Amino acid sequence: MAVQISPSILAADFARLADEAAAVPNADWLHVDVMDYHFVPNLTLGLPVVEALRKATPTPLDVHLMIDDPDRWAPSYAEAGAGSVTIHAEASKAPVRTLRQIRSLGARAALAFNPATAVEPYEDLLPEIDMLLLMTVEPGFGGQKFLDMVLPKLRRARALIERHGGQIWLQVDGGVDTGTIERCVVAGADVFVAGSAVYGASDPAQAVDALRSQATQALRPKS
Ligand code: DX5
Ligand code: ZN
Repeated sequence: MAVQISPSILAADFARLADEAAAVPNADWLHVDVMDYHFVPNLTLGLPVVEALRKATPTPLDVHLMIDDPDRWAPSYAEAGAGSVTIHAEASKAPVRTLRQIRSLGARAALAFNPATAVEPYEDLLPEIDMLLLMTVEPGFGGQKFLDMVLPKLRRARALIERHGGQIWLQVDGGVDTGTIERCVVAGADVFVAGSAVYGASDPAQAVDALRSQATQALRPKS
């Protein structure tokens, strides 16, 4: 499993998004947090910004929908050219249909879980997804403290994924930095969202490299 880093533009300068995307050419993805003031108590951006960003950067967009009605909106984000579209298990009323629509429109389909939501009841959905996202903070804001209580669930999710063939990526989002990324790797994560740790750094590209090398080191068995 290769380490992937997905810097979250939630921590970037929203007035200069194209420049902020260009500041991390070494990123695997750009993580785009869509919030609607309903599913979470914050409001960010929507389809027009994703469409514009898609044209402004070659980096694939990893769109994380923190919205009340992902079944209605997720397909439009895939049509807008997102490389990956994530819907929340807590919000979707028809996840099978929505995940299949995302895939049929050419994007990777992903399912997200808040810290208190168990993954096991969704095991039958694993064949429908390309990535599973475990929130390591309560969603809504950047800069929050990493929740260690999610680590046991991360280990259980890794075990579930391995039982289903091991192809599904396992992403963590929230409070991921050089102090917490190792714990996430050891518990089984392979895709790392980082907002403040990347855009709060004086050199965002160097911060991406630092996270990647630390995660890669942690993957190696200790000799
Ligand atoms: C929070 C968002 C995250 C956020 C992470 O609800 O989903 O993607 O940008 O920010 P940091 O890395 O600062 O915790
Ligand atoms: Zn996110």
